[in-house]
Amino acid sequence: MPNHTPQPLAGVTALVTTGPTREPIDPVRYISNRSSGKTGLAIARSLVEAGARTIVVCGPTIEPAPAGVELLPVETAAEMREACAAALPVDVAVCVAAVADWRVRQASAEKLTRSAGVTTLELVANPDILHELSRPGPRRPQLVVGFAGETGLVLERAVAKRRRKGCDWIVANDLAAPGVFGGEHNRVALITAAGVESWPLMAKTAIADRLVDRIAGHVTDNHLVRHRRTECSAR
Ligand code: CTP
Repeated sequence: MPNHTPQPLAGVTALVTTGPTREPIDPVRYISNRSSGKTGLAIARSLVEAGARTIVVCGPTIEPAPAGVELLPVETAAEMREACAAALPVDVAVCVAAVADWRVRQASAEKLTRSAGVTTLELVANPDILHELSRPGPRRPQLVVGFAGETGLVLERAVAKRRRKGCDWIVANDLAAPGVFGGEHNRVALITAAGVESWPLMAKTAIADRLVDRIAGHVTDNHLVRHRRTECSAR
């Protein structure tokens, strides 16, 4: 249990996206990926423990949601985007979801059969939720954190991705490291405007606690406006 006393994120509203998305091909098949949602759910737990009102938009996973979160289960990227937009305004957004990059342009209402000879699926790009949340504007969360799942030149790619997406911080994650998918540990680097900070191999829960400690530090240092959601929802 992390020691967050007094609760540094009391009055702050946080949005977390996590898990994979599933993009239907037909009523029985879909495109998805190996994300377990564990890291995002661990971050959500740490946020709750730090006192944040925490909204979790979660793709399909067998992992249990932590107590105290407002859980919005979704299946597709389009549903995830809609749920995130509906959750705004929030103070902090942490996008951990492994959103499927593509969906089938026209999912079949009927099960596709081999005998019909279907060989080609037409794919179209899904919306980039992190990029949309990061766009400047009155509803932009004051801190937007993304995750960069990379292989190969992990840090270089993640540094470029932070700029491309427009988020404030990005957590770089080596997908080729053994046990990342569904495992309990991970080695990540936190990339901010100030540079790259490599963290040692840690339990996903410890990574979550450390990231939330950093978020709490940012909130304190920047005198982030709290209770904004309450004020806005009164309009
Ligand atoms: N992300 C998102 N919506 C998408 C794709 C990604 O919100 N449609 C977010 C993820 O939640 C993560 C970050 O963007 O925080 C980076 O995701 P990643 O899969 O590493 O990158 P991609 O955008 O898919 O870019 P590329 O395929 O070039 O690596």
